[in-house]
Amino acid sequence: MSMLTLPCFAQEKEMAKLIEENFQFANSQYKLLASNIPSDKMPQAYDPKTGKVDSRDIQWWCSGFYPGSLWYIYEQTKDEAIKKEAIRALEVISPNKTYTGNHDLGFMMFCSFGNAYRITAEPSYKDILFESAASLSTRYRPAVKAIQSWNKSKYWEYPVIIDNMMNLELLNWVSEQGGDKKFKDISITHANTTLKNHFRPDGSSYHVVDYNPETGEVLRKATWQGAANSSAWARGQGWSLYGYILMYRSTKDKKYLRQAKAVANFILNHPDLPEDKIPFWDFDAPFIPYAVKDASAGALIASALLELGQYSKKAKQKEYVDAAETMIRSLASDAYRSQPKENGGFLLMHSTGALPLNSEIDIPIIYADYYFLEALKRYKDWYLD
Ligand code: GLY
Repeated sequence: MSMLTLPCFAQEKEMAKLIEENFQFANSQYKLLASNIPSDKMPQAYDPKTGKVDSRDIQWWCSGFYPGSLWYIYEQTKDEAIKKEAIRALEVISPNKTYTGNHDLGFMMFCSFGNAYRITAEPSYKDILFESAASLSTRYRPAVKAIQSWNKSKYWEYPVIIDNMMNLELLNWVSEQGGDKKFKDISITHANTTLKNHFRPDGSSYHVVDYNPETGEVLRKATWQGAANSSAWARGQGWSLYGYILMYRSTKDKKYLRQAKAVANFILNHPDLPEDKIPFWDFDAPFIPYAVKDASAGALIASALLELGQYSKKAKQKEYVDAAETMIRSLASDAYRSQPKENGGFLLMHSTGALPLNSEIDIPIIYADYYFLEALKRYKDWYLD
């Protein structure tokens, strides 16, 4: 990717310092986090009321974020204790390679083994990624032209959620690394179906589209974690932004880039995006400005905007990178970042998992840390000399 020279010298120095300091902080926090989890589970969140880390079984969709975060930290700090823990965590989650119970294999396996392979080139990690792509592809149905996100239930027939765009990265990568080409074909078809059915004219997206599994007909457009069927759930907007950027990266198809820019435009020009650029949990949440935030949405949008900057001309680059920088600075400030040795070892506070389900409201959650670390790495790799 091309290097940009956007930030001025003083600003570059300051960001370099901020990035270095945050990786050092993460290095020590994650040693504390490692001491707070059972050996067979992955950390998910921290409950400030009980002071306990919530750890989950490896089939929970977030199991790849802890090992992935450890690899991001190790890449910068070269601390062998962090690497040892990263390798241990990979071993714990490796049985997921044959899991077909949901669409989340990309999150679970690419964030973890994908980073591990990128950093170490260990061949067995590549084998695991290939097997994981095959498992994920079993959830694709030609009649719908999309991967089924969740299983049929009393609520849905064949639900496809916007989050599913993130899992396409695994499929693209495996085909691009010499694996079966059909994985990328599935990914492209899924992205096209989602492009057709998930978006509104203003660039925002529905959370869930439910399909007739036999005919592919759209049954309804709805939400699960958002404020309303018609609302713009913040993290969902982040997934759609990131998802179409990664599709553009792999295909260079301009319609994906156009969609990503439409989503970025929706987010960055939304009247209820706060000054610190960390969104409320839903852009249409009741009680704004008193609604809770979602730091995870801020972190993943920052990371995505930094990549979008790589595919944009000067003025747009500046807009995206400036916005991402504001998000990173906000997240790194005391308003969002944990104090040392607090929050069970998590880095960021104030994420919201699923407010309508009364679950994980305004607390530290693992994927916020992962995308924050990724954004720091991307800023350093692409925008600093
Ligand atoms: N993929 C589920 C979520 O973002 O909460």
